[in-house]
Amino acid sequence: MISTRLHPDKQSAAQAIAREIADLIQLRSKSGKPTVLGLATGSTPLPLYAELIRLHRAEGLSFRSVITFNLDEYEGLGPAHPQSYRFFMEENLFRHLDIPAANIHIPDGMAKDPASHCAEYEAAIRAAGGIDLQILGIGRTGHIGFNEPPSAADCRTRWVHLDGVTRKDNSVFFGDLAQVPHGALTMGVATILEARQVALIAFGEAKAEIVARAIKEAPSADCPATWLQRHPACTFHLDAAAAKGL
Ligand code: GLP
Repeated sequence: MISTRLHPDKQSAAQAIAREIADLIQLRSKSGKPTVLGLATGSTPLPLYAELIRLHRAEGLSFRSVITFNLDEYEGLGPAHPQSYRFFMEENLFRHLDIPAANIHIPDGMAKDPASHCAEYEAAIRAAGGIDLQILGIGRTGHIGFNEPPSAADCRTRWVHLDGVTRKDNSVFFGDLAQVPHGALTMGVATILEARQVALIAFGEAKAEIVARAIKEAPSADCPATWLQRHPACTFHLDAAAAKGL
């Protein structure tokens, strides 16, 4: 089931979700348990990451017991490439926190054998005890992670071909469409649905149509975000512009 939560602005959304994450970390670490977070890239989670960094600095929130699994990575981009999601995460979150490097997991876009790398990624998530909270954005194609349409409900971490719309949307970060990779590695829909809680974030009018489709359309591979309707604890965190079609 998808519940929606409307926020006055990006900053308030970031503060609310960061507080939930902080509470989860504190609760779990009290009983000696790690907190496993599923993390997303793109412009949408940036205010959330800034707020987590603020909580670490200003309130001493520790990430020593946190284990992270990122959703996806571009094919062929190594950690030093400024558009790789590894680079993005280091810059915008990890290097500002006390999270141990060994606790950070991001699919390897340079993996020589993507199929076995993806199987190992799934195994690592299971070995960590599964994801407690998965953060998601949403692409205008209805993708979550890089699960482009069509993506079935039972798909797992794998290599995917990127949709033309997604490549065009993401070309703003690369400066040139020709530089945007054609493929990526992504957690699957089934992998995402196994997270115990899901928080999808969407801001701005450009996301209004796809947000409405994700919530209102019958679940299908044509709009992978619709599969979230089958999740028992999924919240869409929206601003007024992104909620316009509801
Ligand atoms: C990217 C990422 C997704 C992200 C989406 C939206 O391609 N792979 O995980 O949610 O597209 O990006 P943005 O937040 O910049 O709109």
